[in-house]
Amino acid sequence: MIDIHCHILPGVDDGAKDMDMAVAMARIAVDDGIRTIVATPHLGNYWKVYADIVRTKAALLQAELDRLGIDLRIRCGNELVLENAAFVEETLRNERCCFLGDNSAFLLLEEPWAGFSPDTWDVLETLRARGTTAVLAHPERHAFFREEPSLLDRMIETGVVWTQVSVDSLLGNNGPDAKAFAARLVDRGQVHTLATDAHNVARKPILALGFDAVAARAGAAAADAIRERMAAI
Ligand SMILES: [Fe+2]
Repeated sequence: MIDIHCHILPGVDDGAKDMDMAVAMARIAVDDGIRTIVATPHLGNYWKVYADIVRTKAALLQAELDRLGIDLRIRCGNELVLENAAFVEETLRNERCCFLGDNSAFLLLEEPWAGFSPDTWDVLETLRARGTTAVLAHPERHAFFREEPSLLDRMIETGVVWTQVSVDSLLGNNGPDAKAFAARLVDRGQVHTLATDAHNVARKPILALGFDAVAARAGAAAADAIRERMAAI
């Protein structure tokens, strides 16, 4: 399995605090059946983990995993905060963020916690022009999507947005509201990808239970469709 959203890089944001924690997270992931993690540190106004830092830290972590014989590949990514259109455009223009995967086909994008960004629609047009699909981080955790689901419907209808639902939300670890909205997304076929959004060994990198939850609720084909999209990424 591939985890496309994980804060495993040591000492760069609110994820793994040091190399020991990152290695401990890697062991949990491997035990769960994860073989590739796209490391996605925050990149926004608060945490500014730019691509050069991601690449340096990912190489350090990979070297340590290889030294310890842990069968896990670390890839470079970012969780880009949609602070505003200018921020996203400048970051893309200057190639300061990592996409998910080898090319620029998919970008992990997070709405601000303070509220839905009115610049969202402009940013999606920018991404469309660049041939990039936004993978929207954990919409089920944002109150404004739960209160106004049509916002998310409209984003998906643009055709350049896939959702990323967090396994912890499906399992109820992000509270009853996030759990209920995640279930609603499963029922409506609006869970395009799953990820762990792991930050440490408590918010840990486990994916298998998420696929089980989707399969139990919507059938094995629904879980397989998610696997196929993630393989495409
Ligand atoms: Fe995250």
